[in-house]
Amino acid sequence: MISKEVFGLLKEFLENGEKVLEVGCGTGKLSAVLLYQGIVKSIDAINDEDWSTKPKWKFQDCNKRDNLHFENKKFSEVTEKYDRIFFINSFQFLFDDNAGNLDADRVEQVEEKLHDILLPGEKAFIYITSFAWFKQNDKPMVAEKVLFSTDVLEHFTKFDLDWYFTSEDDMVIGLTKRV
Ligand SMILES: C[S@@+](CC[C@H](N)C(=O)[O-])C[C@H]1O[C@@H](n2cnc3c(N)ncnc32)[C@H](O)[C@@H]1O
Repeated sequence: MISKEVFGLLKEFLENGEKVLEVGCGTGKLSAVLLYQGIVKSIDAINDEDWSTKPKWKFQDCNKRDNLHFENKKFSEVTEKYDRIFFINSFQFLFDDNAGNLDADRVEQVEEKLHDILLPGEKAFIYITSFAWFKQNDKPMVAEKVLFSTDVLEHFTKFDLDWYFTSEDDMVIGLTKRV
């Protein structure tokens, strides 16, 4: 679930986007809503597992709408180029253990891949929430490695930072790939 403010930022970010990718789309409902509301004309959405087949999920929108192209695929397997790529609560789960462990190595791996598949001068949007979950669950291993707030930004060396908002529990980052 994203707030009205985050949705507003996402909408602004998607303006003039032609080749759009949502990474870690879950059920695909956000991509479907963006399409349904005319915010995007077409969208590719990937997830490392096909959540739309899980009966417990109410929304099963992937693959059911024209111009929403769902692929059961890992981020590391994407080869197509995009002008807008966004991550809603998925960035921290990419690569290996899916543990929500946002450490420096992981940020650098994701940055490398993002750099490969984003066209020069084009944009990425990263929304990460639930920092409090780690704190509440007292996960020492994760807590040691997790990069909070601005520490994450230091690892995006190939991008310019367009904007950055954070609260105790979430953060949203807008990046542009340097030409
Ligand atoms: C916390 S869920 C967020 C789902 C959705 N974006 C939302 O906000 O409801 C994280 C998602 O990232 C996906 N994911 C994890 N690792 C991935 C990878 N390497 N490539 C693509 N998707 C991945 C998971 O399957 C899951 O759908």
